[in-house]
Amino acid sequence: MSERFIEKKEGYKVAVVGATGAVGQTMLEILAERKFPIAELILVASSRSAGSVVAYKGKDYVVQDLETFDPKGVDIALFSAGGDTSKTHAPRFAEAGCYVVDNSSAWRMDEAIALVVPEVNPEALEMARENKIIANPNCSTIQMVVALKPLHDAVPIERVVVSTYQAVSGAGGKAMDELAKQTAQLLNAQSVDVNVFPARIAFNVIPHIDVFMDDGYTKEERKMMDETCKIMGSDIALTATAVRVPVFYGHSESINITFDGPMNAEKARELLANFDGVCVVDDPACEDYPMATEAAGTDPVWVGRIRDDHSCPNSLHLWVVADNVRKGAALNAVQIAEILIR
Ligand code: A2P
Repeated sequence: MSERFIEKKEGYKVAVVGATGAVGQTMLEILAERKFPIAELILVASSRSAGSVVAYKGKDYVVQDLETFDPKGVDIALFSAGGDTSKTHAPRFAEAGCYVVDNSSAWRMDEAIALVVPEVNPEALEMARENKIIANPNCSTIQMVVALKPLHDAVPIERVVVSTYQAVSGAGGKAMDELAKQTAQLLNAQSVDVNVFPARIAFNVIPHIDVFMDDGYTKEERKMMDETCKIMGSDIALTATAVRVPVFYGHSESINITFDGPMNAEKARELLANFDGVCVVDDPACEDYPMATEAAGTDPVWVGRIRDDHSCPNSLHLWVVADNVRKGAALNAVQIAEILIR
């Protein structure tokens, strides 16, 4: 057994940075649900919400201002406060001796930083002993690699073509407010306000998440391609189309996979059903398949519509759904923290 990351204690000093946000709030819920041993909890956000009160397990906590917060003595900080905030403050926490699990994209592709999905590459955490920062992957990447892992271990994957159907919660609390408000405006025959998304999201589908790059892909699509190779430790050819849909919680993905050797739907169904963190729901006769409405609020990565791709040998289709705020962000971060104290 490898050496512990953090010395054993009854309870740990834990900071949640971005505690007032959509992911931060879910981190708190999951820490409570999973009975994470906390001796002292510190809730941190921007100066905008510093001084406000947030409840955890029935107790009120005053939110502290990140700019002035001293991280000395904190064992683990879960960050979900945006990339710029992480770039500035994660090193400050790490230098104070605290492990930072960062949900932003700031550190993910840094060669010295571990990018971890516990079911897929927990061994990568070893890299964090030196620099103490661990990156949580992109939400769409996390649920995809959990589904790819057992298949890739059985027969190496050659190529993946993925299209996403991503919920608005992935863009934060203001994005959820925008979908709710636009829906009400349209149902009341009013004109809509567009602030967060590049176009109206209510009753629409937007093939644009994050900024466009020179090659015509968006940064969200690029993240899925680059992060998958880093996490799986293999040069899988992957192309992605990332799409925002008017759903509050739960990302769905249509994934087409080509393998380097014999693979079929029956074998894939068995491999997926036996893999930790995956639940297979795949019964076309009963019209049973995973959907965002059912995945929301749950922990597993749900996989269904598993079928052979008749257009190409050794190829499969999967439909993969997960709660993007839980497994795609907060839960994955807490699972990493659980390894740090194991
Ligand atoms: P605040 O509420 O003070 O703005 P979401 O992803 O739901 O929009 O939430 C973003 C989270 O990140 C919030 O908790 C927000 O705090 C926090 N945040 C945003 N910018 C900063 C910053 N510069 N410093 C600290 N926390 C920040």
